Amino acid sequence: MSKKIVITGGAGFIGSALARALVARGDEVSVLDNFSSGKRENLQDVTGALAVVEGDILDAALLDRVFTGADLVFHQAAIPSVPRSLAAPLASHNANATGTLNVLEAARRCQVRRVVYAGSSSAYGEPPSLPVVESMAPMPLSPYAVSKLAGEHYCRVYARVFGVQAVILRYFNVFGPRQDPNAQYAAVIPRFITAALDDRPATVYGDGEQSRDFCFIDNVVQANLRAADADGASGKVFNIACGTGTSLNRVLALLGEALGCPITARHEPARAGDVRHSLADISQAKTVLGYTAPVDFSTGLARTLAWFREHRSTR
Ligand SMILES: NC(=O)c1ccc[n+]([C@@H]2O[C@H](COP(=O)([O-])OP(=O)(O)OC[C@H]3O[C@@H](n4cnc5c(N)ncnc54)[C@H](O)[C@@H]3O)[C@@H](O)[C@H]2O)c1
Repeated sequence: MSKKIVITGGAGFIGSALARALVARGDEVSVLDNFSSGKRENLQDVTGALAVVEGDILDAALLDRVFTGADLVFHQAAIPSVPRSLAAPLASHNANATGTLNVLEAARRCQVRRVVYAGSSSAYGEPPSLPVVESMAPMPLSPYAVSKLAGEHYCRVYARVFGVQAVILRYFNVFGPRQDPNAQYAAVIPRFITAALDDRPATVYGDGEQSRDFCFIDNVVQANLRAADADGASGKVFNIACGTGTSLNRVLALLGEALGCPITARHEPARAGDVRHSLADISQAKTVLGYTAPVDFSTGLARTLAWFREHRSTR
């Protein structure tokens, strides 16, 4: 018999992809989301196949209700944005740090077997060398990064002190279908794709030579599924990425090639709190979790472009 699985932030971009994967393999899934950035339409193809609870991870009584009987919690809920954390640091801290502490406390009370935590590569800041490895000292550069790192530390401590198994996945720049291109601080790939499809210039902060280890959503789903059961993973941190860096100018060039016409860039000043380069060593996730990063960047970009082309009139 399948066991109950809870996804906090399950109406968001990553949480909803995870929900679809779990429903597809027949699991009993409950989504808890306050819909601050998540959307019901992200779950429309699995409506009826899972439970959706509207509420906040800061509500301890609600967490107890949702976590009762759960074997596993994928904790994705957060305010996931560097610029939003610069505009409202306390809100980020409350959702991301205090919210994670609340989730762990409820997991402890409800005897949840394992929590898989959505950490962030922003923990590294500007590292002394690349690629980054999990043993490097974190050096967060924004309130967002601090709040996500605080969540990691709480996970590690709960695993050590309270015996709540907790696995920390440090996602690098995740992209794919359903990522919101219209949010005030939308991620770069959905912004570039929708600008290109609408025949508008793409806004680039800085010179465009900054690079990211972009990671297609299916890879992140695989990492979560493996993290749910892997032996020797609790209390540990894992980079989840592809292990290849791509500059923003290169992303624009690839999109231009795929669409058959170059995309115009409109440059604006580089943003505070952004790092110049980001690149992951993913060998620990490969060894311990059995993570394979199954979809490379260019395949993921092509799939994402195809999805936005198909759905742009309905989003
Ligand atoms: N997308 C990325 O590239 C990336 C990179 C690193 C880490 N992450 C982390 O992955 C997780 C998911 O990010 P995403 O890209 O899917 O973002 P998203 O905004 O699509 O999803 C976050 C979800 O959490 C919900 N939420 C926020 N605050 C909540 C609260 N207090 N109570 C209940 N629900 C709440 C939102 O409504 C939303 O559905 C986040 O924890 C984020 O920090 C994402």
